[in-house]
Amino acid sequence: MHIWKAAAVAAGFAGLVSAGNVRADGTVEVLHWWTSGGEAKAVGELKKAFEAEGGTWIDSPIAGGGGDAAMTALRARVVAGNPPTAVQLKGPGIQEWAKEGALNDVQDVAMKNNWDAVLPPVLANIMKYEGKYVAAPVNIHRVDWIWANPEALKAAGITAMPTTWEEFNADAEKLKAAGITPLAHGGQPWQDATLFEDVVLGVGGADFYRKALVELDQAALTSDTMVKSFDQLRKLRGYVDPNFSGRDWNLATAMVMRGEAGFQIMGDWAKGEFLAAGKVPGKDFLCAPTPGGGFVLNSDSFTFFKVKGADRIEGQKVLAGMIMSPDFQKTFNLAKGSIPARTDVPLDDFDACAKRSHADLLAAIKGNTLVPSMAHEMAVPRSVRGEFLDVVTAFFNSDMSSDDAVKQLAAAVKRAQQN
Ligand code: BGC
Repeated sequence: MHIWKAAAVAAGFAGLVSAGNVRADGTVEVLHWWTSGGEAKAVGELKKAFEAEGGTWIDSPIAGGGGDAAMTALRARVVAGNPPTAVQLKGPGIQEWAKEGALNDVQDVAMKNNWDAVLPPVLANIMKYEGKYVAAPVNIHRVDWIWANPEALKAAGITAMPTTWEEFNADAEKLKAAGITPLAHGGQPWQDATLFEDVVLGVGGADFYRKALVELDQAALTSDTMVKSFDQLRKLRGYVDPNFSGRDWNLATAMVMRGEAGFQIMGDWAKGEFLAAGKVPGKDFLCAPTPGGGFVLNSDSFTFFKVKGADRIEGQKVLAGMIMSPDFQKTFNLAKGSIPARTDVPLDDFDACAKRSHADLLAAIKGNTLVPSMAHEMAVPRSVRGEFLDVVTAFFNSDMSSDDAVKQLAAAVKRAQQN
């Protein structure tokens, strides 16, 4: 039986287990970077649920898509000996902080509520350090999506979403000819890296993506396939408007909403933005995976830093239980644009994009084409990710050749690995 299905079957009773049995008057200070319309709505659900349990929520939002500013703030807080109680953190970052001895585990909450049985193993492993849960996942975000405005496509004579990069490029030219910006984009390193990794998956396939962006294999990093990926990224650079530099991702989404731009390539937090603005999927906006197949995985989770005081430690446990409760996973993800991390939450009330994400995720697990996001900190240590972002952004903002980009990238990754 399929691993995902097996986990769901084993957890047949898990829908009955909720965080409701952990009522307590805990306090949590929560550091996160969910400040856009859709994001704020989603995190508001968590606050509401926590307060309904009698807890006190101290909100510490640090604006900045992708979380780079939040991670800098977190480091400063920990160095000052004053960590927040709960922090939105992910991927190898969880392991890095756990290794530093900075995290409390929530293993007792996880055991009591049988997390092992309701999480896909690929996620459960990321949440554990030395066999114990140190993080609670809220969702599964897919990074390799194209969002589109159907009216803009129609005006440019485009009848279907592109399924190859050649088609994407041809459609972009049609939009250009119709006076519409083909690609809404914000020139920030993490957004450039988001385009880059989707292109690498599309051009090279999942095995290549894994070799280059996860295993950091020098032969893959210097290959012709990587050169071709940069060539496609160069094409995308030609499809953005002159004011792209520094633009926040949600403002780029708004360009698609208004029909000023045809497409945006962005994770499904962009859907949260469309929904928060009252837009209807399939009518006001379209979704399709970026060309190439596979699934770029991103998952948000919360970690619990070592804090003093029974009230705060209780707050951490309440929050962990709540995050993993089926009801909360449904409400939160309906707002966030993602799908639940738990495998046993019915998707009946979710839209077609979410259902597609779920179906493609299962297919990707089965076909071994599920890859972790480099741009969204699921794949490699922050230091290595930083090198990728630097080179990709330098390429995007100059006339650097693809050959030079590949050379610089391979050297930079090697350097980061040696440090
Ligand atoms: C996070 C999302 C968030 C997005 C933009 C991603 O790295 O996983 O939850 O909405 O960044 O801020």
